Amino acid sequence: MSKIILVTGGAGFIGSNFILYFLKNHKEYSIINFDSLTYAGNLSNLSSIEDNSNYAFVKGDITNSKDVKNVFEEYNPDFVVHFAAESHVDRSILDSEVFIKTNILGTNNLLTYSREHNIQKFVHISTDEVYGSLGNEGFFTEENNISPNSPYAASKASSDLLVRAAYKTYGQNVNITRCSNNYGPYQFPEKLIPLMINNAVNDKKLPVYGDGKNVRDWIYVEDHCRAIDAVLHKGKPGEVYNIGSSNEWTNIDLIKLILKKLGKSENLITYVKDRPGHDRRYAIDSSKIREELGWKPQVEFQDGINNTVEWYLNFKKWTENIVNGEYLEYYRKQYSER
Ligand code: NAD
Ligand code: DAU
Repeated sequence: MSKIILVTGGAGFIGSNFILYFLKNHKEYSIINFDSLTYAGNLSNLSSIEDNSNYAFVKGDITNSKDVKNVFEEYNPDFVVHFAAESHVDRSILDSEVFIKTNILGTNNLLTYSREHNIQKFVHISTDEVYGSLGNEGFFTEENNISPNSPYAASKASSDLLVRAAYKTYGQNVNITRCSNNYGPYQFPEKLIPLMINNAVNDKKLPVYGDGKNVRDWIYVEDHCRAIDAVLHKGKPGEVYNIGSSNEWTNIDLIKLILKKLGKSENLITYVKDRPGHDRRYAIDSSKIREELGWKPQVEFQDGINNTVEWYLNFKKWTENIVNGEYLEYYRKQYSER
């Protein structure tokens, strides 16, 4: 009998990439995708596996105990891989409430039912943003203190602490992963790379926050999925694993690279008011997962970014479907006063 993984947030960017990757590489598992389909959830990402007998979608909200109870009772999963979250820093600055509810209360609900159902392992997908910000030197290791600076990061750090407490107090088998910035297909166009591609393609201005010299450490989404696979199968109980590709870029250099690939003018670049509490630099030390679990990134940045730009050019309809009333209202609020 196949083992069952309950994947939360599987209709989002990383969750849908994970499900596609995992079903392709592991015939011995079934996946239940549990997602409430917020503005960021998009089932069309998974249309190619709709008829796969190892896959089922269940619409439900992780903050609703009844929904969570029902999915555990109906499917009796062996593992939980928890992606579902509010994930965008700028939205958390505009309104943090849903971040507290989903990221903290939702995670607590899942931990409670995982405990009641004796789940074999709970993999919590967290972020390097919980560590705060770096100066010009140094890297985040798993030993760094948690020091979040945005409401989003604070809500993720809180959820990490609940996962840790579940291990320490109840002996639940958990792992926490903390990955750097992901890029690739199916990323919502509010995030830097797809936003810049989309704006440039449409000859719209490219809003660069502050001086554009903030640094992010970019990893191709499929490399992140492979790392989660390694943690699910080989991670030691209670451990945290950082995931990163050692690929640091200033925002402005990355934006110029994208413009070059699209053959668009740098005149589209517009410097705007900085993000409040804007973290200066993220950089991951991922030696623990590399040495202990034998994972390493496989996708070179130039290949990954070419693939991503090409994907957004080939799948313009995907983006057009997302640029709806809710998104335009968010975009107006976000950029009108900058
Ligand atoms: P996303 O915003 O693209 O997707 C989130 C998904 O969660 C959506 O499908 C949404 O419908 C679902 N969801 C939201 N609230 C829900 C609720 N209450 N109940 C059920 N489903 C709900 O996010 P993403 O970028 O794919 O990130 C996935 C996870 O990875 C998040 O936990 C995020 O913190 C973490 N992460 C993201 C990055 C990154 O660069 N994007 C890096 C490191 C970690
Ligand atoms: O590091 C992991 C995190 O990466 C994840 O936990 C988050 O879910 C994910 O959204 C991402 O957070 P960032 O804040 O780093 O990503 P974002 O794409 O929003 O911004 C990347 C950088 O680009 C950041 O320095 C802010 C800047 N930026 C962003 C936008 C949307 C701009 O200059 N202009 C923009 O319009």
